[in-house]
Amino acid sequence: MYSQGLLGANTDTDETEDFLAAFQARIDAEEKIEPNDPMPAAYRKTLIRMISQHAHSEIVGMLPEGNWITRAPSLRRKVALLAKVQDEGGHGLYLYSAAETLGVSREQLTEELLSGKAKYSSIFNYPTPTWADIGAIGWLVDGAAIMNQVPLCRCSYGPYARAMIRVCKEESFHQRQGYELMRKLTRGTDEQKAMAQDALNRWWWPSLMMFGPSDTDSQHSDQSMKWKIKRFTNDELRQKFVDATVPQAELIGLTMPDEHLSWNESKNNGEGGYDFGEIDWDEFWRVVKGHGMMNKDRIATRKKAWDDGAWVREAALAHARKTRERKEAA
Ligand code: 3HC
Repeated sequence: MYSQGLLGANTDTDETEDFLAAFQARIDAEEKIEPNDPMPAAYRKTLIRMISQHAHSEIVGMLPEGNWITRAPSLRRKVALLAKVQDEGGHGLYLYSAAETLGVSREQLTEELLSGKAKYSSIFNYPTPTWADIGAIGWLVDGAAIMNQVPLCRCSYGPYARAMIRVCKEESFHQRQGYELMRKLTRGTDEQKAMAQDALNRWWWPSLMMFGPSDTDSQHSDQSMKWKIKRFTNDELRQKFVDATVPQAELIGLTMPDEHLSWNESKNNGEGGYDFGEIDWDEFWRVVKGHGMMNKDRIATRKKAWDDGAWVREAALAHARKTRERKEAA
């Protein structure tokens, strides 16, 4: 079984029991797997799937927020939102580059997104009708992304782990500016506080869905944990997020939209944690399968950007080709 790595070198060998055992021993020894190391085709495939979905999420995630840049209520808020949206674009480029080290092209990954073959995070299927949504996205969506991404800094695949270090630093700014925005609204007029509460009510459950299906329904988690791509399961990270976020909501006087939320002393090995209500898994799978409220709009916008940018890619490639030809002729 062969597949190609960063430099096109055939890096996977026939996947004999010895080869697989030697690979797993490297993982168990906490060694980083690099692009041109021999790796099982299934390991490569899982990473391409996860990293490209992550990259698509960063780029599609720019759309709901970009929608508010021209309507931010102050120059300070506009600057913070501009910086965040630009960061997300950079995260996407970082992650597409990490995916390319596994032997796939950005064109291929983009075509898979535009055709619906590849996914992006379910969270970006929801509209942003008010300014408070920008606060809720920073606070909750980036907060959930941080919970999920910090462990990825220890992912067994080197390029992904290294990309996550810078991404996580920038996500922390994203989360803080979103939470500050929500706190400001809750200290404002009654209408502003109601807007913040409405945004929490609409974004809370979709934020919990970002962590994926329950561990019993997760088809990839077991193997991803074995390969130390994931360091925690979907439910473990979801629980960490709930436990960290509920006190933040209470601190700014917002009410969690979950009547089943209650503190459970025995959770988390006696450290305590929140019990919470059941996620609407029908909604989750409906969105994941491409029937989310904004999916058609998001993909159409991405397709227009990809088509409108074709001439830039062609010009850059022509310039690179000419430069290479001049160097070779010199
Ligand atoms: N949205 C869309 N699809 C999802 C999903 C979600 N929230 N959760 C799970 N899925 C899909 C999986 O991709 C898989 O489908 P596939 O086989 O067609 O790819 C299926 O549902 C089963 O889920 P599994 O739990 O078995 O899949 P994973 O083990 O891959 O776990 C995951 C899902 C937790 C999202 C994992 O892929 C992951 O941690 N990915 C890296 C982090 C990431 O992508 N984060 C996106 C957040 S948004 C973001 O970071 C932008 C920031 O700026 C806010």
